[in-house]
Amino acid sequence: MMQQGSGATAVSDADLTLTRTGLLRPVRRIEILAHFSGAFDIAEQQPRGHAARVAYLAHEVARRLGLGAEERRQVLAAGLLHDAGVAVRHDGGHLVAGAWVAERFGFDEAVREAIMATHERWDGRGRPDGRLGAEIPVGGLLVSAAHWVCEFADSAMSPLRARAQLQNSSISDIEPLAGPEVAAALRSALHDDETWLAMWNEDLARLVGLAGLSEGRPSQRRLVDAAQAMGEVVDAAVREPGRSARVGALSRQIALSMGLPEPYAEAIGIAGRLLDLGQLGVPRHITDKPSILSVDEMEIMRSHPSVSSWLIERAPGLAEVGDWVAAHHERPDGRGYPEMLSSDELPVPPRILAVADAYHALRADRPHRPAYDEDDTMTMIELGAGRQFDARVVEVLPTALEALARGGDDEEPAAGSDAAS
Ligand SMILES: [Fe+2]
Ligand SMILES: [Fe+2]
Repeated sequence: MMQQGSGATAVSDADLTLTRTGLLRPVRRIEILAHFSGAFDIAEQQPRGHAARVAYLAHEVARRLGLGAEERRQVLAAGLLHDAGVAVRHDGGHLVAGAWVAERFGFDEAVREAIMATHERWDGRGRPDGRLGAEIPVGGLLVSAAHWVCEFADSAMSPLRARAQLQNSSISDIEPLAGPEVAAALRSALHDDETWLAMWNEDLARLVGLAGLSEGRPSQRRLVDAAQAMGEVVDAAVREPGRSARVGALSRQIALSMGLPEPYAEAIGIAGRLLDLGQLGVPRHITDKPSILSVDEMEIMRSHPSVSSWLIERAPGLAEVGDWVAAHHERPDGRGYPEMLSSDELPVPPRILAVADAYHALRADRPHRPAYDEDDTMTMIELGAGRQFDARVVEVLPTALEALARGGDDEEPAAGSDAAS
């Protein structure tokens, strides 16, 4: 399994702080999206678990309405993605952007329609189209009703208090919003304590994943695709198009050129796509600032590796990927952030991520400077070898870039990677 490319620098097993278990497990799309949806919560400045809570409740109401499995999956997806568009810069506004994100995740027209309808109202006083009653896709009504409940609960002193209020009078407010049938099913769901326990369960993302079990067999391809889609969201929010895929592909190729086994290279490629996920929670005036950041702004910016890690590490099979992402701005000389890890505390994968990330950051235009050319980029990275960057990784970088340029290993994972799990 070990691939030793020409000019490769061998990495001994001692370099790998890997358990060799649990890497890149097969997943279902709803399951992985439920975990990643925390990124939309931080972009929307909502409490932890907001999108998953909306999805869970909307699905629970759909179940009580007797909707079929396919429609219930659409409701779950629309709930998880209902405000994904808030994170993304898009001329069409956040609903159109949300539908764009759903498309990135490979969801069909029905999911996109439901997201677009989450601000319509049964009484015709919603937006953008002011559609009336049954003209509105039921998924939109369900997500809208669930969202109303979740915001009500968040503004109440506690879920317990919200439960008491919603089980009595306040729920009647929902009828003009979502119609009598949805309101009745919602009332039934909210009188069931199981609903409340699930919505504030620590393991809510897993529960949402269980609700989407009928989505078919899990596969590793789903994980790679979901990481690609999340990477595209980060690119649309704080980067240029294609950045996360390029960093992911280069990280993976460096790993292969260093002789790391394919499953590790694949996992490092996923980490490369997701490493700046936490930047979705950094205000745009900071990510876009053309001049030097203030101390406070710098502190917020420097929290992003920890936030990325926090968003990733609970997802199935991604615990180690989360650890690597947490350390992608650490340095071998101990002067990195956020932990200022020493060289012997810094495993190989984040060393690879740091070089791939820096390479593509230098090669990209920034508000305050144009992109550096290939020669200047390589010179700057070589100057940092042994201090900012791992010298072995820097040594391998030209080989990895050549391999990518040959197209032998492009952005796509190797064929048959599903079978590798
Ligand atoms: Fe929301
Ligand atoms: Fe970063």
